[in-house]
Amino acid sequence: MKVLVVGSGGREHAIARKFSESPTVSDVFVAPGNDGMKEHANVVAIDALDFAGLVQFAKEQSIDLTFVGPEEPLSKGIVDAFEEAGLLCFGPNAKAAQIEGSKSFAKELMKKYDIPTAAYETFTEVEPAKAYIREQGAPIVVKADGLAAGKGVIVAMTVEEAIEAVEDMIGNQKFGDSSSKVVIEQFLDGEEFSYMSFVHKGQIYPMVIAQDHKRAYDGDKGPNTGGMGSYSPVPQISEEVVQRAYDEVVVPTVRAMDEEGAPFTGILYAGLILTEDGPKVIEFNARFGDPETQVVLPRMDSDFGEFMMALMKEQPYELAWSEDAVLGVVVASEGYPGPVENGNPLPNLQPLEDAGLEVFHAGTKLEGETYVGNGGRVILVTAHAKTLKEAQTAVYDQMEKLTWGQFFYRRDIGWRTFDQE
Ligand code: AMP
Ligand code: GLY
Repeated sequence: MKVLVVGSGGREHAIARKFSESPTVSDVFVAPGNDGMKEHANVVAIDALDFAGLVQFAKEQSIDLTFVGPEEPLSKGIVDAFEEAGLLCFGPNAKAAQIEGSKSFAKELMKKYDIPTAAYETFTEVEPAKAYIREQGAPIVVKADGLAAGKGVIVAMTVEEAIEAVEDMIGNQKFGDSSSKVVIEQFLDGEEFSYMSFVHKGQIYPMVIAQDHKRAYDGDKGPNTGGMGSYSPVPQISEEVVQRAYDEVVVPTVRAMDEEGAPFTGILYAGLILTEDGPKVIEFNARFGDPETQVVLPRMDSDFGEFMMALMKEQPYELAWSEDAVLGVVVASEGYPGPVENGNPLPNLQPLEDAGLEVFHAGTKLEGETYVGNGGRVILVTAHAKTLKEAQTAVYDQMEKLTWGQFFYRRDIGWRTFDQE
């Protein structure tokens, strides 16, 4: 079986790597990929939004399955383009990808089908939005309706902050069209977790859960980022809570998409928060999470290629997961999530791999023999161990031996779980 992975980040490195370990898979291609993936896949210089180019490549290479990583090509219809060409592509079509691409679509779906989430209202005008904020009071959450690369959410601790967010988003079009509509929702308090499932034609295969660290600095301080590290399992979230999330969120959402004439194929990512009233949805994504994938996929004991083919052919499959723990730490360029300088050299990463750690490349480039930074999040380093504590110790012991120069990483990935021990 030949597989094409679309995308270029750490998530796609993890997907490509898992396919490369599958006895069923003979060739793995990644487009556009990055230099750091070359050990696990053939990197092909075709942009993730060049659908015609990707379709042509898949035909020429007789690709059996294309697996799409990021949200943008999904929202723009990459799956529709592959299907029109008669090719197998795993991901939601443009209509179903709205569950991530339009927050108001997702919220209306949840309201209609009684799926637990924060109470909300949708606005396209500044004045009624402000009146609603004043009436509700703070804390309150303002979200751009469309895709905004994880930056379109403001958790406002004061009424003034929320009003400013509305003025920025609707008034000043901060995210262009993506914020001409906003969702304003109730602030929820509790432990967060990411629960992802493989979905196709009504079949649902849930994965083990993970927890992300969204803030840039230690102690969950600083601005929101794409994610600075993650780990799996998440012991402070019980099996009962996960089962409840499956029954009350995942299954009803998949059924609701069928009802709405937008059947979902792909990875359904539920971002959940455990409130006093049980798990509630913060967001849906229509794809694998980054960096959650890098700690979840390594725990899959099954043959990934074989499983994907069974899923697409609607044949039952026993998906197996390891009890082990995986913990991963992101290394980012100084200045991230703001503007960063590319081209700074990374230390030699070989000692990390020699010590048994896995390095996933997100934004690197090879210059001669040296990897240099090429983006905000640069690499993610993970350890696989019997316990989370052992995994955390293994990662940091090795990372601390290297000199990171113009790069930084959080030193407390996993803190919420250790705090509760
Ligand atoms: P999102 O991009 O939708 O995942 O939101 C980014 C982060 O904002 C989440 O990981 C939460 O920490 C926070 N957040 C989003 N919605 C809410 C909410 N309703 N209540 C509290 N925090 C929220
Ligand atoms: N790590 C969160 C996301 O992928 O959206």
